[in-house]
Amino acid sequence: MSAIEFERQVLNALSKVEDPELKRDIVSLGMIRDLKIENGNVSFRFVLTTPACPLANSLNEAARKAVESLSWVKSVDIKQDAHVPKSPGAPKKPAPIEGISNIIAVGSGKGGVGKSTVSVNLAVALAQTGAKVGLIDADIYGPDVPMLLGITKEQKLALAEKEQLEPVEAYGIKVVSIGLILPDDTPVIWRGPLISQMTEQFLTKMNWGEIDYMFVDLPPGTGDIQLTLVQKAPINGAVIVSTPQDVSLFDATKALNMFLKVDVPILGMVENMSYFVCPHCGGQTNIFGTGGVEDTASRLCVDFLGRIPLEPRVREGGDAGKPIAADPSSKTAKEFHSIATKVAAKLSVINLTSGEK
Ligand SMILES: Nc1ncnc2c1ncn2[C@@H]1O[C@H](COP(=O)(O)OP(=O)(O)OP(=O)(O)O)[C@@H](O)[C@H]1O
Ligand SMILES: [Mg+2]
Repeated sequence: MSAIEFERQVLNALSKVEDPELKRDIVSLGMIRDLKIENGNVSFRFVLTTPACPLANSLNEAARKAVESLSWVKSVDIKQDAHVPKSPGAPKKPAPIEGISNIIAVGSGKGGVGKSTVSVNLAVALAQTGAKVGLIDADIYGPDVPMLLGITKEQKLALAEKEQLEPVEAYGIKVVSIGLILPDDTPVIWRGPLISQMTEQFLTKMNWGEIDYMFVDLPPGTGDIQLTLVQKAPINGAVIVSTPQDVSLFDATKALNMFLKVDVPILGMVENMSYFVCPHCGGQTNIFGTGGVEDTASRLCVDFLGRIPLEPRVREGGDAGKPIAADPSSKTAKEFHSIATKVAAKLSVINLTSGEK
């Protein structure tokens, strides 16, 4: 059995334990952290929402029993801990940035699932509704956004007033990418401190003007770098992209936990490469089965935002710098528009209920 399979089995067992007050299972609540499995010895931190939890002992026991029920488990070591969520009135996030109303991070548990494609197309779709949209390509490993939007090397970031840089415009979106600052084909080896400041720098040192929705395309994965990028910016919500074949409770939980750690609400999950659309006859084939991401979203109690097919035109549009969301004849464009609308609506609800304007 692979290491991931061991972790999946443990998380699966733990997901059967419900917090009776919050009416959700302890895995989807992000209470299980630092899971380690070595030779059948399982250890993790069990992070409650308050140290004053009256159910701490019974939850602890239930979690222990759930893990012990797996035949290969030799020992279970649980460290109980608590993280009190901040009220919306006193967020621990960095202060909002003037002129930028909403910042949306697009992340995933794994690379290559279509984060950049989804970020770009959602941004284009929202811009087409008349919203003022920005896009930050924070993927230091492979900044693909300029290519996906047909932005060429020649389109340098012009200097604006007060030593700020001017974002580049494409398809009605204002864009900045590390790819527009570093020469092409140069592997980016950034030092930690610089990486950690990147989203912050891009947000504060550019002449964005007024932005309703700012998308941030994150580097793949859920490591420290991704966490820092999310932590250093006042992110209002996160969209998690997954493909049906890669999706597992494990991957989705990793991405979810990363955002929960820094109190970023999950706006929902998108299933990319959901089914195949034949370019010849337009017929649909569910190559990887259906409903994987929707099931996972429902298990994790987050919204399912929609599915984007595996469609040659999506990749061709990306390679040619012509995002499919800009093509009014495309059914897939309509899907991107529907997802973008749900994201915007969800943000409105969050902002209104937390008292922000
Ligand atoms: N729905 C789709 N149909 C067809 N091709 C797609 C689709 N979504 C993405 N692709 C293609 O898959 C490849 C990977 O997509 P993309 O670069 O958006 O993923 P990513 O998650 O941002 O990757 P990375 O982790 O490397 O940043 C690209 O070539 C893209 O054109
Ligand atoms: Mg990418």
